[in-house]
Amino acid sequence: DKGNHRHFMAKEIHEQPEVVGRTLAHYVNFTAGQVALPFELPFDFKNLKRISISACGTAYLAGLISKYWFERLARIPVEIDVASEFRYREAPLEPGELALFVSQSGETADTLASLRYASSEKQHTLSVVNVPTSTMARESAVVAQTLAGVEVGVASTKAFTCQLTVLLSLAIAAGRARGVLSAEDEKELVDALIAVPGQMSEAMKREHQIEILARELSKAKDVLYLGRGTSYPLAMEGALKLKEISYIHAEGYAAGELKHGPIALIDETMPVIVIAPYDNIFEKTVSNMQEVAARGGRIILITDEKGALETGLDTMATIVMPSVNPVVAPIVNSIPIQLLAYHTAVFMGKDVDQPRNLAKSVTVE
Ligand code: F6R
Repeated sequence: DKGNHRHFMAKEIHEQPEVVGRTLAHYVNFTAGQVALPFELPFDFKNLKRISISACGTAYLAGLISKYWFERLARIPVEIDVASEFRYREAPLEPGELALFVSQSGETADTLASLRYASSEKQHTLSVVNVPTSTMARESAVVAQTLAGVEVGVASTKAFTCQLTVLLSLAIAAGRARGVLSAEDEKELVDALIAVPGQMSEAMKREHQIEILARELSKAKDVLYLGRGTSYPLAMEGALKLKEISYIHAEGYAAGELKHGPIALIDETMPVIVIAPYDNIFEKTVSNMQEVAARGGRIILITDEKGALETGLDTMATIVMPSVNPVVAPIVNSIPIQLLAYHTAVFMGKDVDQPRNLAKSVTVE
């Protein structure tokens, strides 16, 4: 049932404040300002030397964002790979480390094969899955469920932000266990997480602006997405969303890589979507934006109130998000990138819920 939405994808985008809130309630003790994991861990984060993450597509990009979190907040080295590579590359794994998997369906063939490989290599296995009855849930030592509810749209939206919510909760728990985060640090991060559903609702208010921008975007042949830090995987997620439902070619790049190749593509016809919350690397991203602007590139900037004040650059459009703790920015900034892809595809008359050639659950490799 799509409710009063035209497509499941629209319904699922709009459900995010609610399902992220529900997922949070499962992982966080609101009054104590602490993460409270709803399961026992058969290992101690304190003793881990490494986490190996594998997943596919959007779930992989959630994993890539969490690498920044686990490394920064818990000082655990993270290795991450797409599952189709991980399963065959015979990576040396030391027994007793953690292998982490992310999957909406819990049935993705390559991710499942990676899980089986990791188990055979004596890894502790933990899967972040949305379908609790799935094969991956059955075969993992620990199941961290996302409470996104059934996701019908082929393009993953609410599962992604719920995955991020669970992964950040895990990273905070790890940071506490390893003595990296103090009780105050933890409370500050948990408070930032608790604020996310409200900030997502606030972000939805940009929908009309985004709908108008989408008409511009629909004329493009290629679109470049740029970001640094956790906005880099989000740039790739933005590009993935756009290409899978609108069939416009899009690439997500680390902003710092611009001058190592993709800058050659920039001209007046190519929209460049820059995701730059006001964080410790904001200025660096702004200098990349200047390089784009100097070559006539048309910039759509996704930033927050502070960032919008500080850029001093002419953009084609600036989408101003609420100011949030930079740690949770990729969760909130998922909203505008999803809406941009959605409205572009709808404007172009594409079947957003059932894009050509794609299946919701990829159970063959
Ligand atoms: C993109 C998308 C896919 C899936 C990928 C993994 O919008 O939906 O890239 O994320 O096929 O699927 P799961 O999460 O079910 O393992």
